[in-house]
Parts: sequence; C-alpha cells; structure tokens
Amino acid sequence: MTPRRAAALSWAAACGLALSIPAAQADPVAARGFAAATMSGPHRLVSDTSAPSGQPAQLPTRGELSKRVDLLDTKAVVITLRRGCSHRARLWLRMDRSRPLLITPGSDSWHTFQAPTSIAAGWHTIRLRPARLRRRAPLCATPEIDRVDLLPRDPGAHVLLGAAVRSQDPAANPLAQVTANPQYRTTFLASFDSLTPENELKMLYVEPRREDYTFGDADSLASFALSNNKAIRGHALVIGSQLPDWVTHPAIPWTRNTLLSVMQDYIATVMRHYAGQIHTWDVVNEAFNDDGSYRHNVWYDVIGPDYVEQAFRIAHAADPTATLFYNDIAAERSGLKQSAIYAMAADLRNRGVALNGIGLQNHTDLGGYPDRATIEDSIIRFAQLGLDVEITEMDVGTASAAGTPSERAAAQATAYAAAATACWDVAACRRLTVWGITDAVTWLGTEEAPLPFDVSLHPKPAYLALTHALHRGL
Ligand code: XIL
Repeated sequence: MTPRRAAALSWAAACGLALSIPAAQADPVAARGFAAATMSGPHRLVSDTSAPSGQPAQLPTRGELSKRVDLLDTKAVVITLRRGCSHRARLWLRMDRSRPLLITPGSDSWHTFQAPTSIAAGWHTIRLRPARLRRRAPLCATPEIDRVDLLPRDPGAHVLLGAAVRSQDPAANPLAQVTANPQYRTTFLASFDSLTPENELKMLYVEPRREDYTFGDADSLASFALSNNKAIRGHALVIGSQLPDWVTHPAIPWTRNTLLSVMQDYIATVMRHYAGQIHTWDVVNEAFNDDGSYRHNVWYDVIGPDYVEQAFRIAHAADPTATLFYNDIAAERSGLKQSAIYAMAADLRNRGVALNGIGLQNHTDLGGYPDRATIEDSIIRFAQLGLDVEITEMDVGTASAAGTPSERAAAQATAYAAAATACWDVAACRRLTVWGITDAVTWLGTEEAPLPFDVSLHPKPAYLALTHALHRGL
C-alpha cells in the first residue's frame, strides 16, 4: 500500500467515513483565507456578532466541510474557532490527501489555532471534519468554525498596512509633521509599512507654475519612508481637482494636443524623478460620477474620455517597471460607478494598456459602511481581470452615529475589520491604506474621530482590529 493510500485510509478510519470525498468547490482567485460559512458540505450557520466574520459554521456530528482554493506558498493554517457544548469535541484538519491533524479547541470563546504546515503554491483542497463523538452527543457538541486563514511563507505576500501622512500642516498642528514630530514619527514607523503622501504629490503642489517643478515636500516624505524601509504609494498623477490655476484657467485655451503634451510632460517628469523609489502610482484618480458617467474636469472636457488611456500609456512609457493603478471613491460596492470602472478596466486590459490595479478608497462612516462580503466581492470582481486591488484611503467617520464614544469606537473597529478581512481573504489585495494616522490630523475633522489612533496617538480598537484581521504579529 502506498503511504498516501495508507494516510487516506487512516484518515477515513479515524473519521468513520467511507472513502467518497465530495466534489470540493473551486474558488476563482487565489485565497489567503475564507469564512468557514463559504465551505461546501453540511453545516448550520450560527449568527454571532462576536465572531470576527459574523456567521460561523457549526459542523454536523457526521460529514465534512471542504473548499478548493488556489493558495500562495503557505506556512501555516490558522483556524478561528470555539468549543461547542462538549469539552471532548475535536476536529480533523486535512489538506489534500496528507495526514489529518487533530485540533482540540482550547476555549469556548473565539480563538485561533495555528497549525504549522508546508503547502506549495497552487490548487488545494482543505477539509474539516469533527472527530467522532460519543453516540448520544448533543448536536451542539461539535466545534464552531469562523474562518480558515492561510499564512503565506513569503513575508512580502502579506497585506501591507499603509497610512497617508502630511509633510507639514499649514494649520500649525505640530502633530502632523511626520518627519519632525517624534511621537507622530514613532507611531508611523512602529505601526505602518507604507506611506502615501496625502497631498504633496498632487499637481497643485508639484507644478504650481508651468514647467517649474517643486518636489521639496514630496522628497522629504519619500526620503523619510525609504530611509526607514517603508514602501510609498504615489498619489496621484491625473486628478480633476487640486490643479494649479495655469491648468484650469489657461491664458490661451487648451486644445487636445496642447493639454496632452502638458499631461505627458507632467507624468514623465514626476515618475522619472521617483523612478526606483516609488513603484506604485495612482495614475488616474476619480474619473467617474456615481451614475457611471465621466466626471467633468479639464482633462475630460478638453481631451475626451480617452484621457484615462493616454495617462496609462504615458505612465508605462515613463517607467515600464511601475505598477499602475486607477483609484476611485465609493467604488467598494457594486453599482453604476463600479460597473463603469470595471468596463473601462476590462477594455484597457483587452487592448493591452498597462493598467495593473484598482484602488478602492473606502472613505466611509458608521451610517453604512460596506461589510466584508461586499468588499470581498468587489475585490474578486477586479481580481478576475488579473488586476491587483488595494484599499487605498480608508477612514470611518463616527460623528453622526448614536452611542457612547466607546460603543462608537467598537463599531468603528468592526468597519475596519470588515475591509481588512476582505483584503486578507483575496491574494490579489496586497495593501490596505488608512487616510491618516491620528484623529488629530484628518481631512474629515477631529470630531469625526475616523482614524485608528486617537488624538493622543494611542491605538484605538480600530487599530487592534486591523492588526488582528491582517495577521500582523502572528
Ligand atoms: C484630500 C486630502 O486628504 C485633503 O487634505 C485635501 O484638502 C483634499 O484631498 N480622495 C482622494 C484624495 O483621492 O486625494 C483626497 O484627499 C480625499 C478623497
């Protein structure tokens, strides 16, 4: 008997099952993790808001849950689970046809069990099955499972946590000066992997007068990031707002060709200035209205809708190694705007234009933030086009919500966890960026308390939820 066959039989004997393994469900895109409720096989859904994904699956005393997923090279399986009503309840975990691993839940509150393993990248089937219980065991005896996560072996395959920062705050808030204020600087360095200049790379600041480029503030952020081994997101080359007057009110009206040459000069100059330093750029920002039509701005009005394509072509020629994103607001859920972005992205990809990723900004608030499934569906939709997806500008306003400050902080943590979990779940999502660090410095105003650190730079529940959902420190 081959060792593989022996292992299969010992697994079968241990579980009391005949060797008929149900066809496992295939996931369309590479996964880092998933909610147990999405596995195939018999199970009961438990609605439980204390579970990180809200709807744990309870296994039947017989039968198994399985899922076929396309994995990155994986070093551990992490199961979020809790004990049912019996202390004896245990669980078998099995990857493909390897030896099953027996898991004993340690507590009846939610916790993680980490099984070190070695799984090569590619398609695999994950199976979970309760260990055989005494004959009269009550239904509640089996463990409840909330999530299964796969920890990638390559640290670079983890989800980066980024923050938008300002080089200086003209409103004289000393906290905002990341490069100078020691507390702000330390918090950024200890808590984030990546930096997005909040405004410093916008045309208004970089080319305030025609062909007179001023990189000072952006350079100071870039050298701060690079000397501390942090990545940088270049935000944003072509936007309809925060433009200098000479672009929006030209002395001689633009023609398509004269404005295209302005765009060409700008993108090429900025990208070449940061070649080798900034590898990811938002090339075009916010081209669409909520109803899916193009937003009016000088680029669209003068050049026409193909200004988007032209910008990507110029950007790719300026730095062929850069990863090029289209970034938009309120595109985290399906709807007319998301469909317009999808159609544009599919068209550009089909015609070989170098579009590499979609940025979902996810500026939101407690009144109606998108849940995990909504964001995950959006990420998968774009990932299926072969694109990377990032959450690029997340904040969660809290001012208009009911409840005590600590209740609002807890609800805000849930909103952050929803986006972070969705990003973690799909391998195409490699970074989540929050739009600021501290509630003391935010474009929404301190009263919204939208960020993961409070005004004294203490971490809020939101920060802990982010780090937990992104498996930082595991
Ligand atoms: C905002 C900045 O946070 C503000 O400081 C500035 O006054 C206006 O722009 N979507 C984007 C960002 O893509 O560039 C915007 O940043 C927020 C919305």
